[in-house]
Amino acid sequence: MKGIILAGGSGSRLYPLTKLYSKQLTIIYDKPLIYYPLSVLMLGGIQDILIISNAETIPLYQKLFGDGSHLGITISYKEQAAPNGIAESFILGEEFIGNEGVTLILGDNIFYGNLDFLYSAIQKKKEGATIFGYRVTDPERYGIVEFDRSGSVLSIEEKPREPKSDFAVPGLYIYDNQVVEISKNLKPSPRGELEITDVNVEYLKRRQLSVEKIGRGVAWLDTGTPEALLQAANFFGVIEQRQGLKIACIEEVAFNMKFINKQQFADLINSIPKSIYRAYLEKVLEDAE
Ligand code: DAU
Repeated sequence: MKGIILAGGSGSRLYPLTKLYSKQLTIIYDKPLIYYPLSVLMLGGIQDILIISNAETIPLYQKLFGDGSHLGITISYKEQAAPNGIAESFILGEEFIGNEGVTLILGDNIFYGNLDFLYSAIQKKKEGATIFGYRVTDPERYGIVEFDRSGSVLSIEEKPREPKSDFAVPGLYIYDNQVVEISKNLKPSPRGELEITDVNVEYLKRRQLSVEKIGRGVAWLDTGTPEALLQAANFFGVIEQRQGLKIACIEEVAFNMKFINKQQFADLINSIPKSIYRAYLEKVLEDAE
């Protein structure tokens, strides 16, 4: 299973920050936003990851992550010339995906809680597509999935004016290899984008779409506005300070997932400047000895 993080876009709602770089580099409490979705892919066991972004931001991601080898993973990069839609990921990523399945996560989507259902869905490598449904109070802002009484999917619509349910589709999508061919055959929507919802509609037509509802114990946070960013920062600040454990600490995840061994972890820590972040990692290593 390959992983793609889509981390470009215009981010116009967060101007002036996004005049400099894409919004997935915004700090959420103590680390860049993209660490959160990256850690989800890593915890799902994915070690081959493509980051897609615009030309201005790719060099910054390269500075942050390099080729990923210090984390025991491979990170490559691909430019998206313009925000032509989420489904363009699979066209830009065709060569990277090869003959495999792929999990796409949006670089501004944050998931928190017990995510075992997510990790096992990634590892199952089922045929078709697996997406999720999460109850929200503002369904007109998202892709919305409608279920019948038995829980089967009836429809999926992108930002419907009159939503048929409150179940939004979060930005984490697990596909088999058909996604490449499906995306190549899409036509741009009225807003001029290759819509991820149209990919999901095609899987639904092929009777190969499964949608799992996410329960109330999981947080799926929005990062679309300055208020939402502040809320997310406060949320993770409260939890990290209370527990003394870091969330989405990619170096710790790499070690816990055994992508790197103790020696590699120690070397990695030594390359980090003296900071609260480094002290935290030193404690993780100490606890493991
Ligand atoms: O967050 C989940 C929602 O994401 C889904 O429920 C919707 O079905 C899906 O269409 C998408 O909705 P948005 O319209 O809110 O997506 P947005 O255009 O904000 O793009 C999501 C992220 O992907 C954002 O950080 C920018 C990045 N992006 C987006 C596009 C269209 C790119 O890097 N390139 C793109 O071409």
